[in-house]
Amino acid sequence: MIPLVTAEIRLAAIRGNIGAIRRRVGPGVQLCPAVKANAYGHGLAQVLPALIELGVERVGVANLIEGLDLRRLGWHRPILCMAPVLAEVDEHERRERAEQAVLAQVSVTVMSAEEAGDLSRAAQRLHKAAPVEIKVDTGMGRMGLLPEEAAVTIAEVAALPGVVIEGVYTHLASADEPDLTHANRQLETFLALRERLTAKGVPVRQYHVANSLAVFRLPAGHLDRVRPGLSMYGYWDGPPEDRPADIRPCMRVVSRLTAVRRLPAGHAVGYGRTFITKRESLIGLVPIGYGDGYRRRLSNDAVITLEPARGRGRVHVPVVGRISMDQTTVDLTDAGDVRVGDPVTIIDDDPAAPNCVEALARKLGTIPYEITCLIGPRVERIGV
Ligand SMILES: Cc1ncc(COP(=O)(O)O)c(C=O)c1O
Repeated sequence: MIPLVTAEIRLAAIRGNIGAIRRRVGPGVQLCPAVKANAYGHGLAQVLPALIELGVERVGVANLIEGLDLRRLGWHRPILCMAPVLAEVDEHERRERAEQAVLAQVSVTVMSAEEAGDLSRAAQRLHKAAPVEIKVDTGMGRMGLLPEEAAVTIAEVAALPGVVIEGVYTHLASADEPDLTHANRQLETFLALRERLTAKGVPVRQYHVANSLAVFRLPAGHLDRVRPGLSMYGYWDGPPEDRPADIRPCMRVVSRLTAVRRLPAGHAVGYGRTFITKRESLIGLVPIGYGDGYRRRLSNDAVITLEPARGRGRVHVPVVGRISMDQTTVDLTDAGDVRVGDPVTIIDDDPAAPNCVEALARKLGTIPYEITCLIGPRVERIGV
């Protein structure tokens, strides 16, 4: 079946973005791109081959299910699981999850010696090492050990049989803000902890802090490894003047007009009759809607790009009327010769386009992450 809507994932853009990140961090720093939530909505299966080919050292996921998916997709390198997977479940389930993690060699994030104890016991039962990562809360307030307790707990974890501390890390709450004072304070707290652990001789393989924004704006935070997500996909969520010139959106969502109809003046378009034609109009139908993550709040307030055909140029046409679950209507009246089947770009990979991910996020008062993550399963992802 030919898909109605396709998300083209441009592997050349991902390669370029990884190159941009590597240029910022230098050769001694490992990459751990975030590929959680189906690679931020772009499709894990589509993105992964580029990461394998480029020698990316490890990747980050949100939970054990995503970690196991990566193994099924043929990712053999280290995996960091960034959210807790062992806490708050019963003993049987903790034992099972710990064994799954050790068997698949997924480094799970622990926040207590008890959780690490589950992994240590699983490691001994399975005669395999249990790689773990320890999260420290230096100011995000979401998860992790508080800095005051961290040194003691990390030393306890290091002493557990079978446990290898792959990393100790923290996450920045506001590296996207113009003022980096809080981010710098978090980094200082983390570096003080690193110093204490190093002085005590606690064996920790890597210390890491930096998300995308810190890769580009906080070089002191690069340390041993960086964890960029958004920038690897080519988007930016920081001050516009800091947008790196060498990252490029990797996704273009494309489709074709499924209907082109002439309506008389004074005719309503869509649910709620929010658009009434002022003149005889040519209304086109695009087979995407809020059921695919094309948000209803864009009704009467977005453009879709009509791609060139039959000598007609590339034009932006306005979305008119309410976006419904599966369909969006556009006004083609001024577009020239337009026919059913003509190609359209719903989300453009040009970062200056009015229908790029960042522009849509601004319009919706949200972040680029939400735009890409919400693209639904009916949209077929293809690597190009
Ligand atoms: C712990 C952690 N590190 C790194 C990232 C990647 O962040 P970004 O996409 O802003 O680069 C995330 C994403 O949410 C995260 O939760």
